[in-house]
Amino acid sequence: MLRPFNRAGQALPLQRKTIVVTKSLQKTLAREFHPTYDVTRSYEWNYRHGPHFKGPYPPVRKEAPRISFLGFRLRSRLGVAAGPLLNSQWIRVYAKLGFDILSYKTVRTRWRPSNPKPNCVLVDTRGQLTDDRLGENLHVMTQPPAGIRDISITNSFGVPSRNPSIWQEDVERAKRYLDKGQVLVVSTMGSSEYYPDAPSFIQDFARSAALAREAGADIVELDLSCPNSNAAEGMVYLDPELSGAISKAAKAELGDVPLFIKLGNFWNRDRFESVIKTNAPHVDGIVGINTVKMTVLDENGKPAIPGRPQSGVCGAGIKQSGLQFVHWLCETRKKNRYDFVMIGVGGIMNPEDIREFLDTGVDAVEVATAAMWDPYLAYRYYLTRHGKM
Ligand SMILES: Cc1cc2nc3c(=O)[nH]c(=O)nc-3n(C[C@H](O)[C@H](O)[C@H](O)COP(=O)(O)O)c2cc1C
Repeated sequence: MLRPFNRAGQALPLQRKTIVVTKSLQKTLAREFHPTYDVTRSYEWNYRHGPHFKGPYPPVRKEAPRISFLGFRLRSRLGVAAGPLLNSQWIRVYAKLGFDILSYKTVRTRWRPSNPKPNCVLVDTRGQLTDDRLGENLHVMTQPPAGIRDISITNSFGVPSRNPSIWQEDVERAKRYLDKGQVLVVSTMGSSEYYPDAPSFIQDFARSAALAREAGADIVELDLSCPNSNAAEGMVYLDPELSGAISKAAKAELGDVPLFIKLGNFWNRDRFESVIKTNAPHVDGIVGINTVKMTVLDENGKPAIPGRPQSGVCGAGIKQSGLQFVHWLCETRKKNRYDFVMIGVGGIMNPEDIREFLDTGVDAVEVATAAMWDPYLAYRYYLTRHGKM
């Protein structure tokens, strides 16, 4: 058994409530990467066979769920953002790994296939992707990443979905895998290719939310900002009127079930304020940011994801954009006395990043890229909170 140490390296006394990190878990934690998603295979393969996780699992937590979050009680303020958890099997594993806000990858009111592989490619962002760099061409990584803070990826799935009857049954299953102190968020969206005019698109969004509520989602989140779907779907979050109308229609379907909206990065503060203003009366939570749309090329100057020159970039390189978003969100919530909860996402890779985001005043944080490469992140964060790392 290893004795716990604090950050300064001082040995801490072993108390009755001390969680002891076994040698095999300590050895596993020493490795920074444990990818659970096989990027060399298709989305469909990962949906059927993933996640790739052989354990060991961290010890069962003994702490009571004390954090109040929209009427739920959570064990921590850390979750997995919509995306990496493809279905209930993924939710089961990540719930056991200690992530407490578990988001089911975005689903639709009808079946839709994934874009062909590759769906995820490692990108060299050469530092932070600040607003002034958004027109740049990025290139794929040519060296293996040295540490978790080197990992940025571009992903492009096109928001695939099973038919509602299949995902609804699976959401019910996912709910059964949660422990006390955990919540299930189901992310949904409308499909503009089938519902191109605004009224039917809004209705389809509302119907997707209603289906998620019916399946037992604790919280429903609308994906208003996916840069990998078509422009009409991906840009909704920049349109104050359309996004507000979608939130209003969805909330009417949800009643007491909390509604979150997922926003992307903004370059313009006025636009940001307008969008928050039209959505605030209808939503219980705002989540951001989504991936940042960029051009990513391979070593030969060809699109890194064939046929899709632009795709969403996420991971370490978007941390500054994520922080800018949450700073703006905290300011506007305070100034206008809005009462929605705020969930910060974007470039959070390790326990220090989690702390830095929480210190801005957000109610919770979520990770996507880091959850795929370091499924032990929730446990590492747990150890730091309890003075054991
Ligand atoms: C593999 C993958 C799939 C994603 N799929 C979705 C999705 O279906 N819906 C959504 O709202 N966001 C999706 N995202 C975006 C994430 O939720 C998150 O907003 C973004 O990746 C930034 O967080 P990160 O830097 O921690 O990865 C996805 C991200 C990744 C990495």
